[in-house]
Amino acid sequence: MTRTSGLVFLLLAAQISASQTLTSTGKEFVVVFPENIAYYHPSSPENKIWITALHNGTVITISPPPAEGSPQNLIAGETKSFKMTQELGKLDFSNSLNSAPFEVFSISDKTINITSSKDVVVQAISIKNRSVQSALVIPADKLSLKYFLPPVPEIEGTTDQGVLVVNVTERGPFRLIIINPSYDTVKVAIKGGGEISGDIKSGEVAQIWVTNTSTSQFVEADKPVAVFFSHPCATQYDCTCGLLHAMLPPAKNRTMKFPVPPVLAEQASILLSDQHFKGYESFKSYSAVVQSAGTAILYQPSLLLTLIPEEEFGSCFVVPFIENKKNFLIIVVHKEHKDGIHVGKVPLNNADWQELKGTDYVSTNLSTSSPNTLIWHNSSTMAVYFVGNENNTWFGNPAPVVSVTPDFRGCAVTPEEINILYDAKSWQDSIQSCKDIGLHLISLSDKNLQKHVCSKLPKNGVQNVWIGMRRSSMTGDWYWLNRHPFNNTNWAPGEQVGDGQCGVMSLKSSRNCGWNDEDCCKTIHPVCYRDPVILQI
Ligand SMILES: *[C@@H]1O[C@H](CO)[C@@H](O)[C@H](O)[C@H]1NC(C)=O
Ligand SMILES: *[C@@H]1O[C@H](CO)[C@@H](O)[C@H](O)[C@H]1NC(C)=O
Ligand SMILES: *[C@@H]1O[C@H](CO)[C@@H](O)[C@H](O)[C@H]1NC(C)=O
Ligand SMILES: *[C@@H]1O[C@H](CO)[C@@H](O)[C@H](O)[C@H]1NC(C)=O
Ligand SMILES: *[C@@H]1O[C@H](CO)[C@@H](O)[C@H](O)[C@H]1NC(C)=O
Ligand SMILES: *[C@@H]1O[C@H](CO)[C@@H](O)[C@H](O)[C@H]1NC(C)=O
Ligand SMILES: *[C@@H]1O[C@H](CO)[C@@H](O)[C@H](O)[C@H]1NC(C)=O
Ligand SMILES: *[C@@H]1O[C@H](CO)[C@@H](O)[C@H](O)[C@H]1NC(C)=O
Ligand SMILES: *[C@@H]1O[C@H](CO)[C@@H](O)[C@H](O)[C@H]1NC(C)=O
Ligand SMILES: *[C@@H]1O[C@H](CO)[C@@H](O)[C@H](O)[C@H]1NC(C)=O
Repeated sequence: MTRTSGLVFLLLAAQISASQTLTSTGKEFVVVFPENIAYYHPSSPENKIWITALHNGTVITISPPPAEGSPQNLIAGETKSFKMTQELGKLDFSNSLNSAPFEVFSISDKTINITSSKDVVVQAISIKNRSVQSALVIPADKLSLKYFLPPVPEIEGTTDQGVLVVNVTERGPFRLIIINPSYDTVKVAIKGGGEISGDIKSGEVAQIWVTNTSTSQFVEADKPVAVFFSHPCATQYDCTCGLLHAMLPPAKNRTMKFPVPPVLAEQASILLSDQHFKGYESFKSYSAVVQSAGTAILYQPSLLLTLIPEEEFGSCFVVPFIENKKNFLIIVVHKEHKDGIHVGKVPLNNADWQELKGTDYVSTNLSTSSPNTLIWHNSSTMAVYFVGNENNTWFGNPAPVVSVTPDFRGCAVTPEEINILYDAKSWQDSIQSCKDIGLHLISLSDKNLQKHVCSKLPKNGVQNVWIGMRRSSMTGDWYWLNRHPFNNTNWAPGEQVGDGQCGVMSLKSSRNCGWNDEDCCKTIHPVCYRDPVILQI
């Protein structure tokens, strides 16, 4: 894109690269639907993929093609649902030594490839009568070589080893679902307990029975894989069972803090891959934040919800909607940043905030009734979960993160870019220097942008910087390069505007980013800028 010399102050470089790795957005995804035998109901499950486009002119390809809803061009903010018939189905025991946990390593080719011309987010849902589960799908380029397994929750009638009774069909181990999205065969191993290993060919998926071991377990692969933790029919109540399904997040190197939203925690256990807390009561006395160097999953009958660590908070999310169910979203945010949350265009006022004991976080839950909600923060980050419930049967997943860079204008799918160039040139030549790196010399016609840019630029480094402001030699009036009205001024205090025909902004901390006139031929560093792309739904 550029002919830049590379000598640019990349003021926001760290933030911009973080925004690419920490979102749920991508162009390639592999989706599988686990076996859903819930509720003893003769109907077959309805499996759907939801794709939300973030940019206009997004072209989707799904292979094999969906049963309903043909892929087409999507516009920014549009969510399309595609019905799929492809399901993983039963475990195949034929290649296994016996039917003991850890020895069943069953391979299927029932994967679905999604590719997109531009970044999208993908979620998968499976509905079978009352059993509903949804999962966030991590894009292929954000998958990892290592995943920590949570302890297997103890569910009466599902995992207990008691005498066989009538409800025996519900009884069985949890399974790991490991997908190989790459073009090569991948070697995977489950380590830390009853160690096993195997190969998964390109585009295939393995289902492996897992049970508890006394040590913490992890999956390790020689190429990136996706890992889900699942049970096709975990006992709930009233002689029913439901699908349990959650993605495992890639293993991290460090201990992370996971705030637990109180509304879900009341009847839940937290499954920590390096520890186990049975029930909320036992950790409420310490704090509503759990720490783990691995995976933290909230479990309550019918729901496995992967928790979001502080480091992975986002600033903008899309929240889906399942018809005929109670849908809501749960927000966790720092108590000083409750203001600034917006649902669509509307600021979130009058929310009912609950404290997370012993922390600086607060949480709220909001009912949603529209098919597709955009939720964003104008100055901070937060965690958002999509959850739903029907007759005490829960489902949900972390809402897909669309952006991690808060922006006062809205949901920034492509963050703004501000650079002060290293090359000091005349005002006229600076216009070209900015163009050369795909930006433009900044116009500060908008008061909010002036304030925002001022907060982002370093003070007491470079003293004066060129901005896109100039005086017409015909009329003598000041104008902006972007042609917006020059009706909002921010002249530096105590300065008499002199004979200079071009505008500079002062970055001395005492000058509050005030403007001044300057000789256009002086060599000064320019501030180059590109507006964010704001997503609207
Ligand atoms: C996408 O297209 C719609 C109209 O088709 C337009 O209103 C909108 O501004 C476009 N959005 C972006 C981000 O370009
Ligand atoms: C679920 O199954 C029951 C029993 O067959 C049936 O009466 C009910 O209508 C079904 N509900 C849904 C949402 O499909
Ligand atoms: C797995 O281990 C944890 C921690 O020891 C325990 O709380 C849980 O009940 C065990 N699950 C099963 C299915 O035995
Ligand atoms: C999906 O892509 C993989 C390669 O990444 C390929 O091996 C596999 O056959 C594809 N599956 C389908 C259903 O297109
Ligand atoms: C399943 O069987 C156990 C006895 O092992 C019993 O306690 C439990 O209530 C049964 N569950 C259901 C849902 O019937
Ligand atoms: C994990 O830690 C090691 C050593 O501390 C470091 O070299 C490596 O880059 C870290 N990996 C990640 C993914 O952070
Ligand atoms: C963020 O939104 C809140 C509430 O609408 C508002 O008071 C505040 O000024 C906004 N902050 C910024 C940086 O725009
Ligand atoms: C939020 O959760 C509480 C506690 O479960 C519940 O009473 C309330 O109805 C929920 N509010 C919304 C808007 O869903
Ligand atoms: C939910 O519970 C009510 C009352 O117990 C019952 O009438 C209704 O059929 C249930 N709905 C489903 C989908 O099971
Ligand atoms: C400046 O002009 C624009 C466009 O006419 C207008 O929307 C804005 O309110 C004006 N601002 C001030 C401070 O007068």
